[in-house]
Amino acid sequence: MSIHKPKIDKKVTLTKIVNSKGVEPITMITAYDALFAKLFDGEVEMILVGDSLNMSFFGKEDTLSATMEQMIYHTKAVCNGASKSFVVFDMPFGSYLNPNQALTNASRVYQETKAQAVKIEGGSERADIIQTLTSNGIAVLGHIGLMPQFVRADGGYKVRGKDKNDIDKLVQDALSIEKAGAFAIVIEGVKEEASKAITEAVSIPTIGIGAGNCVDGQVLVWSDMFGFFEDFKPKFVKEYLNGAKYIKEAIRNYSDEVKSKSFPSDEYKY
Ligand code: KIV
Repeated sequence: MSIHKPKIDKKVTLTKIVNSKGVEPITMITAYDALFAKLFDGEVEMILVGDSLNMSFFGKEDTLSATMEQMIYHTKAVCNGASKSFVVFDMPFGSYLNPNQALTNASRVYQETKAQAVKIEGGSERADIIQTLTSNGIAVLGHIGLMPQFVRADGGYKVRGKDKNDIDKLVQDALSIEKAGAFAIVIEGVKEEASKAITEAVSIPTIGIGAGNCVDGQVLVWSDMFGFFEDFKPKFVKEYLNGAKYIKEAIRNYSDEVKSKSFPSDEYKY
């Protein structure tokens, strides 16, 4: 039984998200399975089935080897748990190399899952792909700034928007994505001055991660913000829970009690 009523009581629509700009900050979190999607459902407007699951759940060092099969499997699970929050499918690396391939793969997402939109990393150079999807009835969430799928090509995770040229480039990227029909844009790993300029330039909502406060919403990776992912901790992550500590204490207690035969005690016996 849940301990309190969720904040949101009916399914969040794309229109509600678009209309939030300038009215109310948008909340978004990642989820990878039904168990956690159920816990988050209705507390945040949006749930992203991020390809970050390839790192935190699958143990890989970056997101690049995530596959369509893997993402579809997890998205089905999340949709089973999320009846209120708007669910977004993160298109994995290599699944949208050209407009035709992107359309085939994104159509598969709509046919096989209940995700309401797909997310695509890339700026102006991906506008033709976004345009093909949106003109075929697929809702697209853009993603610019630091793009984890470019980590190998960029030689690491690099903060963007540090000078005027880069800020101008990011604003142009955002405008191209908006023109191509994206309904919102994730802005990751940029200086606040840049995310502010982008947010003011476009009429669609911007959702920041490591992008400061001058945006229309925030997203965090659940395993980071609840302290379960210990491999590294980006500066922008606020830990709302020290999950790893609680789990490690609990597993140690369980193990000790089994070894000492104090579990199961009488109250856990038939
Ligand atoms: O994969 C993911 O979790 C993401 C977020 C970092 C926005 O793309």
